[in-house]
Amino acid sequence: MLFPPFGWSQFLLGTMDSGPSHAGRIRVRRFAGPAAYAGAMEPIRIAHLTDQHVGRITPFAIQREAVELTNAEHPDLVVITGDFVCHSQLYLDQLIELVRAFRAPVIGVLGNHDHWAGADEVAAALKRGGVEVLRNDSTIITIRRQRLQIVGLDDAYTGHARIEKAVSGLRRDLPALALSHIAEEADQLWKCGVPLVLAGHTHGGQITVARLNEIAVGKIGGHKYVQGLYGTRQPHRGAVVTGAVYVGAGIGASVIPIRIGERGKREIAIFEFGRRPGEFEEPDREQEPLAGRALSPRKMRRRAEKVVRRRARRSLRATVEMKQV
Ligand SMILES: [Fe+2]
Repeated sequence: MLFPPFGWSQFLLGTMDSGPSHAGRIRVRRFAGPAAYAGAMEPIRIAHLTDQHVGRITPFAIQREAVELTNAEHPDLVVITGDFVCHSQLYLDQLIELVRAFRAPVIGVLGNHDHWAGADEVAAALKRGGVEVLRNDSTIITIRRQRLQIVGLDDAYTGHARIEKAVSGLRRDLPALALSHIAEEADQLWKCGVPLVLAGHTHGGQITVARLNEIAVGKIGGHKYVQGLYGTRQPHRGAVVTGAVYVGAGIGASVIPIRIGERGKREIAIFEFGRRPGEFEEPDREQEPLAGRALSPRKMRRRAEKVVRRRARRSLRATVEMKQV
């Protein structure tokens, strides 16, 4: 993956995304939860953030602003769908500081960048920051005497998602929400009885003018779900199991911090569980998926090997450093 030279990156930060205040750079989008839960529960507010990429590419002021905006919404729960870090473990202390600042409980799943940087170390840092990290697991959270199940899938991009394991403890009598870094896992999660999946990874394509994001993320990247809401939040009828998936455009960036166009803007999505779709105006309609493209076994193998290669490189570096001490 290419990195912009330091000077260029600083130039872009200066021109595209900085200034004395980052106010207005992050939009807050509000949606109702699945129709099946409307009227069946007292409304629960869930804030969804994704792809913070804490590191040198994304200014820490933007990270802080995202937390402040989230807290100002007074959510009952914060969920984060991976890529907490950018390329290394150098900023884990900042990540801990950041996630500790959320006032609501936080549940998260890992993304490909977390695996590249060291999944166990990132997960341990998140735990120190008070985040419950679900790695192919589920948990039940009680909010105002109402129980909500959260299913958390480990990262599918690097081959770590195990859906059967993640849903093994799922109860059909409780409302459920799933988190997955990769949105396409939703197709299988819906079949397991989870009507809504929150995801990230695409950054909305970052440049969304002239639908460039759909070309880059959809046609070239092979994704069915690029940014925003897809599918339906209505209970499925008939033979084909359906559900909804929301792809957040994220907070940070991993290579170039440019975001151009409305759909690529940094964002926080608020989901009001217990409220019916159509009950209030929403910023987006439920979209039809793009064609997408299945991954070849070769590509999946190469992605898995990249994680192993990076782990070996970290281990070698640590050994050399120890010898030098
Ligand atoms: Fe990302």
